[in-house]
Amino acid sequence: MTDDASVAAALATIDSAEGRLDVLVNNAGILPTGDPDGPKALLAFDTNAAGVVRVTEAALPLLRRSSNPTVVNISSSAGSFWAVTNPDRPEFALPIALYSASKVAVTMLTVQYAKVHPGIKFNALEPGTTATDMTAAFGIGRPVEESAEVVVRMATLGPDGPTGTLQDESGELPW
Ligand SMILES: NC(=O)c1ccc[n+]([C@@H]2O[C@H](COP(=O)([O-])OP(=O)(O)OC[C@H]3O[C@@H](n4cnc5c(N)ncnc54)[C@H](OP(=O)(O)O)[C@@H]3O)[C@@H](O)[C@H]2O)c1
Repeated sequence: MTDDASVAAALATIDSAEGRLDVLVNNAGILPTGDPDGPKALLAFDTNAAGVVRVTEAALPLLRRSSNPTVVNISSSAGSFWAVTNPDRPEFALPIALYSASKVAVTMLTVQYAKVHPGIKFNALEPGTTATDMTAAFGIGRPVEESAEVVVRMATLGPDGPTGTLQDESGELPW
């Protein structure tokens, strides 16, 4: 996600093997820990937000060759202004400024890409709190297989499916 040459090589491999790309899931991301500082901010935005731009731009030519191209950007409800300002939501109390801010960017990029490319579906997704390396220190989250269900659902939308939305497994989330 942070290396243009690596991204180009990955897309070239897909091009030579398949000649098109039906589904792109931008999943990779990082959660910086400890007090925010400049280097952590640069790394968070480079990986979580600029990474989405790098991969999406490299993938667009292959996506355009699909009859039903779909992009799912794994964002987070921690990047929803509605959630982080709502005392009834768990995101309200999470001290993860760099992660949240970079996920706001992911969601905004999703909306902007959807507007610029109406022939490709772009949706941002909160996958649900999941037990992964990212959350291991907190000891929280459901099994990966459960969260994967909503990712697969958003990745296999029909041609008339939504675009430019932020969703979780219950449907559209407020911004
Ligand atoms: N877990 C949750 O509860 C939760 C909730 C909401 C949203 N999310 C989002 O879900 C996505 C997946 O997170 P996760 O929980 O599965 O975290 P994870 O276990 O830490 O996995 C993150 C993945 O991103 C990859 N990655 C990190 N930096 C990269 C880079 N520069 N280039 C390519 N790959 C890179 C990692 O690869 P390596 O292992 O090789 O480093 C790893 O496979 C993230 O976007 C996260 O923000 C997670």
